[in-house]
Amino acid sequence: MSYTAHFRVWRGDDKSGELRDFDVEVNEGEVVLDIIHRLQATQASDLAVRWNCKAGKCGSCSAEVNGRPRLMCMTRMSVFDESETITVAPMRAFPVVRDLVTDVSFNYTKAREIPSFAPPAGVAPGEYRMMQEDVGRSQEFRKCIECFLCQNTCHVVRDHEENKPVFAGPRFLMRIAELDMHPLDAAEERGLDRKRSAQEEHGLGYCNITKCCTEVCPEHIKITDNALIPLKERAADRKYDPLVWLGNKIRRREG
Ligand code: SF4
Ligand code: SF4
Ligand code: FES
Repeated sequence: MSYTAHFRVWRGDDKSGELRDFDVEVNEGEVVLDIIHRLQATQASDLAVRWNCKAGKCGSCSAEVNGRPRLMCMTRMSVFDESETITVAPMRAFPVVRDLVTDVSFNYTKAREIPSFAPPAGVAPGEYRMMQEDVGRSQEFRKCIECFLCQNTCHVVRDHEENKPVFAGPRFLMRIAELDMHPLDAAEERGLDRKRSAQEEHGLGYCNITKCCTEVCPEHIKITDNALIPLKERAADRKYDPLVWLGNKIRRREG
């Protein structure tokens, strides 16, 4: 069964833009990305949209559909009423390149700032052994498709450009948490305290555990409960641990 849906799609560039109205055909089983493609094919051949897999796995088609950050390829048209106007706009936290395409390079900058896994000394790749429980814990975070919907949603940066230099965002604080939980990560032996750097260099303290990031994650990763809160707890334990306090004091004196 087909029907005609009313769409409002944001058109413009980094200087100006507006929502434009379109009536587009919808067929049974289609998703929002299908409608955007039909719009391109029939009425707006120069409409810019980023996508790749159409299967919820490449993380490219992130946008705001009726104000909610979502993957367009995983948003079924059947969740909307046929008479509803459907608004599609680019992600708000990142600069617009054109139409629905945003410049997400903020995220790549943050990714580069996080030191990678530090392999343990004397253990060759292939000889790593971990408890299944530890594997399972980081496996959840590894499901991330880097759609950056969580980064776009987090109120710390969504309307606060000024916070971007000091806040890595949920996706990358989760990466720090993953590495910090990793039983074979030897960062500390090499002088890198991941908990301290999460607090002092990547803005962990800005997160007030509202869980908005978790709510929009298409991979249903429990970003707040399983990554951010445990990282905050470990960072606080470390700060108030009397032995750590004493060690720091001695180190400062020696310095
Ligand atoms: S839980 Fe923290 S990281 Fe997630 S949206 Fe809220 S403030 Fe941002
Ligand atoms: S954690 Fe979830 S919402 Fe954030 S980038 Fe990864 S898949 Fe997307
Ligand atoms: S097109 Fe790949 S996640 Fe939507």
